[in-house]
Amino acid sequence: MNKKTSIHFSAATLNDIKALTTIENRCFNIDRLSERSIRHMIQKGNCDFIVARQTKDIIAYILVLYHRGTHLARLYSFAVLPEYRGQGIGELLLAEGERLAIERDCIYMRLEVHTNNSSAIRMYEKHGYRPFGRIKNYYEDHGDALRYQKRILHRENQFDFMPIPYYRQTIDFTCGPASLIMAMQALDKNTKAERSLELQLWREATTIYMTSGHGGSTPLGLALAAWRRGFRVELYINTRDPLFLDGVRSEEKKEVMELVHKDFMAQIKQTDIKLHYSNITLAELETKFNQGGIPLVLISSYSYTRDKAPHWVVMSGIDDTFVYIHDPDEDTESFRSDTDNIYLPIGRQTFDKSFRFGRTGLRTCVIIYNK
Ligand SMILES: CC(C)(COP(=O)(O)OP(=O)(O)OC[C@H]1O[C@@H](n2cnc3c(N)ncnc32)[C@H](O)[C@@H]1OP(=O)(O)O)[C@@H](O)C(=O)NCCC(=O)NCCS
Repeated sequence: MNKKTSIHFSAATLNDIKALTTIENRCFNIDRLSERSIRHMIQKGNCDFIVARQTKDIIAYILVLYHRGTHLARLYSFAVLPEYRGQGIGELLLAEGERLAIERDCIYMRLEVHTNNSSAIRMYEKHGYRPFGRIKNYYEDHGDALRYQKRILHRENQFDFMPIPYYRQTIDFTCGPASLIMAMQALDKNTKAERSLELQLWREATTIYMTSGHGGSTPLGLALAAWRRGFRVELYINTRDPLFLDGVRSEEKKEVMELVHKDFMAQIKQTDIKLHYSNITLAELETKFNQGGIPLVLISSYSYTRDKAPHWVVMSGIDDTFVYIHDPDEDTESFRSDTDNIYLPIGRQTFDKSFRFGRTGLRTCVIIYNK
């Protein structure tokens, strides 16, 4: 009998937790999914958690994660019990995972794999996955991970990524500095991506206060910080009013933020930074990007993380369907890894909607060019 034909796929349920834990223990020596994580994924995960059964027994599973508002799928985990390997079951499951991701309109499937997992690597490469990075000391045994991705949904336009090194913010209010580091590194390889620079840039760009905690970075401050380091800078803001004042309640804080804003404006006047008071369109942004500019864009990430805070990201690519971003977010709770934050595809319309912040609809970006 062809064993493959007797395999059935279904979505994992709470009744499968025991069998899945057994597979986990038998298939992985390190970085196992805990029973708690398995339960969480089944109950609340934004994912496809698929088990493969032969007769009644679960013999394999695949877990694919999604991120709201994006078109990226991540093969988070995948295993076949040892006695069932080498019969093509892994391939069937991988194809099922890709099919489900395509149903959700994902264009890329990404994954991490241990450098010494030669059977999995062979399988991914056989099925069109291509390496696009390495993460040092990723696993519990301190081994490195290789990042792989495959374009699963074919569209005419194959975006050719422009190399922008990734830098993850290390504090929750340094998305601006982390984004600027990425842009500066892409344009000048002598830029050293390190924490001291991240903190220095924040000190140069902060509004001092913003919502309840520390201030974030104002576009004016980021523009000045880039200009001081020799980059050509264009700045777009769709208002002449001081920025972010509606995020704080106390008059004292508002007053401080206004002073900071005025001071930044006075400093900008002394430079050749091109300041446009206009509502830059996505088409204009695309033109600037294609001319070699790297935009730092202030988004309200609500549509894809349900987080309403203002957030700086780097625009790392654009094609007819998607805007790609490098998101410096250091979100550690939601099973997101850096692999998900690089060239993250967001539908053009979703991006356009997120490219504004607050009740006043502030739309601003800082575009950095070569020295
Ligand atoms: C990786 C894994 C899922 C493969 O499952 P499988 O059912 O044995 O895979 P298949 O029989 O469908 O094999 C498909 C292809 O994978 C590759 N492959 C699978 N096992 C291999 C091995 N032992 N050596 C070399 N290549 C291997 C081959 O390219 C194979 O195709 P081919 O035989 O035509 O060359 C399975 O080995 C496993 O569960 N490993 C432990 C968990 C794990 O590492 N998961 C991946 C985490 S990233």
